Amino acid sequence: MTIDEKIDKVLQKLEELNQQGGQWNISRETGEFLYELILDKKPQVMMEIGASNGYSTLWLAMGARHVGAKFFTFEFVPDKVRDLVANLQKANLIQYVDIIPDDANKRLKRWQEKVDFVFLDGRKNEYLPQLKLLEPHLNQGALIVADNVISHKHVLEDYLYYVANDKKYQSELKDIGTGLEISKFLG
Ligand SMILES: C[S@@+](CC[C@H](N)C(=O)[O-])C[C@H]1O[C@@H](n2cnc3c(N)ncnc32)[C@H](O)[C@@H]1O
Repeated sequence: MTIDEKIDKVLQKLEELNQQGGQWNISRETGEFLYELILDKKPQVMMEIGASNGYSTLWLAMGARHVGAKFFTFEFVPDKVRDLVANLQKANLIQYVDIIPDDANKRLKRWQEKVDFVFLDGRKNEYLPQLKLLEPHLNQGALIVADNVISHKHVLEDYLYYVANDKKYQSELKDIGTGLEISKFLG
């Protein structure tokens, strides 16, 4: 995969920071997978819950730029929002991301737009309530990608049970990074 030199420099810097601990960013392998998935599925409206310093956001923004999608990301810690903005600016990707510096749980209660692609990476015990808030806004065929489903499988038991058993979803587990559950919304 070829990545713009400017973006790769920011990605590599964040990978070094992540190795020092305390950041909880996705792995590069996960980033590459998300990017390829977006190029393949071509969503029109994308959402991320939990941007942190923007490592995953950079991969998603590259995908959004490529397919021309609108992309919203939520992050509610002010210091992280500051880093997120700075990293997106350094990578020249800021114009492809609509940063919502607020609590996703609050904002999803009054969400209006239809969504085709969701990356869940906030608090693990909130994935299920967040998905339920989003459900009325999901387009048929929308993809919901949940991170940490292997590393945090106990906290995510209720979420995983729901997307595996509810007929509105078709789900599969990918052993990539800390584990991704990919669920297609069948409507
Ligand atoms: C695991 S980190 C995200 C890592 C990032 N996705 C990456 O891979 O580079 C989780 C982030 O979600 C944020 N977060 C958790 N719950 C949130 C909420 N309800 N609304 C907005 N941000 C939230 C936290 O502040 C934290 O920065």
